[in-house]
Amino acid sequence: MNRPPAPKQAVRAAFDKAADAYDAVAAVQREACDRLLTLVQANGITPRWILDGGCGTGYALPHLHHTFPSAQLLALDFAPAMLRRHPPGIALPLCGDLEHLPLANDSLDAVWSSYALQWCHPDKAFPELARVLHPGGQAWIATLGPGTLQELRNAFRVVDEAEHVLSFSEPDVLAASLETAGLRVRHHRRDTLRAWAPDLRQLLSDIKALGAHQTGAGRRRPLTKTAWHRLSEAYEVHRSPLGLPASYDTLWFIAEKT
Ligand SMILES: C[S@@+](CC[C@H](N)C(=O)[O-])C[C@H]1O[C@@H](n2cnc3c(N)ncnc32)[C@H](O)[C@@H]1O
Repeated sequence: MNRPPAPKQAVRAAFDKAADAYDAVAAVQREACDRLLTLVQANGITPRWILDGGCGTGYALPHLHHTFPSAQLLALDFAPAMLRRHPPGIALPLCGDLEHLPLANDSLDAVWSSYALQWCHPDKAFPELARVLHPGGQAWIATLGPGTLQELRNAFRVVDEAEHVLSFSEPDVLAASLETAGLRVRHHRRDTLRAWAPDLRQLLSDIKALGAHQTGAGRRRPLTKTAWHRLSEAYEVHRSPLGLPASYDTLWFIAEKT
């Protein structure tokens, strides 16, 4: 089953707020992009129109421009503060929603989307990607799977039964949604990327700076001192010489519109 995403307004507000701090803590996000680019480069197509959907501060844009110098890039995000941080002159910015793309049918050769589609409902966003691609056009996707932030999810279980971490869909469910939308999966990869922090306070603050702290569970009361102590203790079992890990179960898909 596809997991319901967090409420859109809350996610949008979180990313708008996160825009200034985002780049400083987005090492894992950059690695996901770099690996997606490697898959795309091995793929051998020469697109003329490319959309970066959920482009954030635009990390992928210079890389896409360098790889496809003759392509016209469109960069879409629903958080205006993210769009304002783009490197100038590389892409046409569009403030819009991945679930309702402000683009014509069959108008693009490729859609790139890294670490954004996990915030969307696949049954809304994937048909939109398919609609704007022309037949033979490709979707290049990096997104998150159910093992994401599992250390945090498990540590919170010693505190209470509330859902403190967003749920993410299984890869086979996402692959089935892509196929149903008319996007045939040509390549699929899965790997766990890790961010590291010296302590739990920093780790949570980094997740917040990435805008990724929305769960859809509404506003919660701050943790009591005892609950915080139990949470920190539960998280410490994951400590390694690099610090405390935050896992990002990353799924890459290359899919082609049939
Ligand atoms: C984790 S950031 C990733 C940004 C960028 N792709 C990167 O790799 O650094 C996710 C981005 O997706 C955007 N986003 C999430 N849901 C969206 C939606 N429904 N429509 C448009 N943008 C969305 C957020 O505003 C945010 O900028």
